[in-house]
Amino acid sequence: MGKISAAPLASLILITIATCTPFQPNSEKLAFAIGETERGCDVFKGRWVRDKKARPLYEEWECPYIQPQLTCQEHGRPEKEYQHWRWQPHGCSLPSFNATLMLESLQGKRMLFVGDSLNRGQYVSMICLLHRVIPEDAKSMKTLGSLTVFTAKDYNATIEFYWAPFLLESNSDDAVIHRVTDRLVRKGSINKHGKNWKGADIIVFNTYLWWMTGLRFKILQGSFDDEEKDIVTLPTDDAYRMAMKSMLRWVKKNMDPNKTRVFFTSMSPSHEKSFEWGGDPNGNCYNETTPIEDPEYWGSGSRRSIMGVISEVFSKSRVPITFLNITQLSSYRKDAHTSIYKKQWSPLTPKQFANPVSYADCVHWCLPGLQDTWNELLFAKLFYP
Ligand SMILES: *[C@@H]1O[C@H](CO)[C@@H](O)[C@H](O)[C@H]1NC(C)=O
Ligand SMILES: *[C@@H]1O[C@H](CO)[C@@H](O)[C@H](O)[C@H]1NC(C)=O
Ligand SMILES: *[C@@H]1O[C@H](CO)[C@@H](O)[C@H](O)[C@H]1NC(C)=O
Ligand SMILES: *[C@@H]1O[C@H](CO)[C@@H](O)[C@H](O)[C@H]1NC(C)=O
Ligand SMILES: *[C@@H]1O[C@H](CO)[C@@H](O)[C@H](O)[C@H]1NC(C)=O
Repeated sequence: MGKISAAPLASLILITIATCTPFQPNSEKLAFAIGETERGCDVFKGRWVRDKKARPLYEEWECPYIQPQLTCQEHGRPEKEYQHWRWQPHGCSLPSFNATLMLESLQGKRMLFVGDSLNRGQYVSMICLLHRVIPEDAKSMKTLGSLTVFTAKDYNATIEFYWAPFLLESNSDDAVIHRVTDRLVRKGSINKHGKNWKGADIIVFNTYLWWMTGLRFKILQGSFDDEEKDIVTLPTDDAYRMAMKSMLRWVKKNMDPNKTRVFFTSMSPSHEKSFEWGGDPNGNCYNETTPIEDPEYWGSGSRRSIMGVISEVFSKSRVPITFLNITQLSSYRKDAHTSIYKKQWSPLTPKQFANPVSYADCVHWCLPGLQDTWNELLFAKLFYP
């Protein structure tokens, strides 16, 4: 098969890159596959459907693993409307998430999420979707530095999260203290973290938010220990492209395509400016309780150029990575952010308190909520590619 042209985003069916390279004849199935999604159905194209009966898939109070930054009900959110939406692809229906199937498939295996706090949210959602079918004394969760490990003992399975917001080595790698304003990423350093990912059977990567500091980004050429640091600034798109290529090289070298699966979750959109969806000129996601209905809605510009970089890099590569294209479907969900209903890092000032818009978190998502859908899509792509 020839190169897929980098042309219109919509025509790029990245998923098929994994299934129709000359190295994998059609008769061979991907690891973990038990069926196929209907031919021609793009599960990422669809609409949100109100579903009070079947959503949410679990209750906030039932899942003890949700961090207090994401427990919106506990922190006073007055309604639950954001929990009652189901993603309906235009061309087919998503398979129902089956926790038993997932755990049986992970028997003796290791599933790993690598990335930033948004990926951590998806990780926790996955644990919440699974933990109900595991008896109390047969599961545990531990965090040690950058790595959090959930163990399902009876299945000898682990589901893990590894903090690496840039995937490469950076000055924001401390899993707890990482609020650095002058961000710096070291070129060619993926093995710094990557050595801890070896042996995983399923990996889910993300990286995006931490790159968004402006038009240019600082890259360290030498080592963090150098007295005189050799730093260049690159256009953010180029810095991001460099990280994507490092990730692909790491996957090619370390993951056996016959036995493992690798996913990449696209940019998680934020909702900082309500004028973008025709709302209040000074508002944001605060007070929003319904999704955006305009199917063409996309939001701010930087997402488009980063999406361009992702599709360009993936289209030129034969490394089988399944793309979880959650950006568009999440961009409709201005109602699903944690907003002011979360544990605050530091106490609010009276001035902030008087103006909720000023401290609303329009980046992260309440659980249960939107990120459960990301995992339903992951489930679909894992078992029915
Ligand atoms: C992601 O999905 C959206 C909505 O279906 C689509 O418009 C966009 O082209 C897709 N992006 C890529 C890189 O496939
Ligand atoms: C879920 O998967 C298990 C294990 O494969 C299977 O036995 C069960 O029937 C499935 N449940 C549903 C509702 O499909
Ligand atoms: C548990 O799984 C690991 C791989 O993650 C394997 O090396 C080990 O042998 C398994 N142990 C048992 C008791 O099955
Ligand atoms: C994957 O399996 C195919 C067919 O069994 C084999 O030819 C190929 O060498 C395998 N690839 C790896 C990386 O093991
Ligand atoms: C939020 O909604 C409440 C109730 O509808 C309303 O009283 C308040 O003015 C709204 N605040 C903002 C900032 O839009």
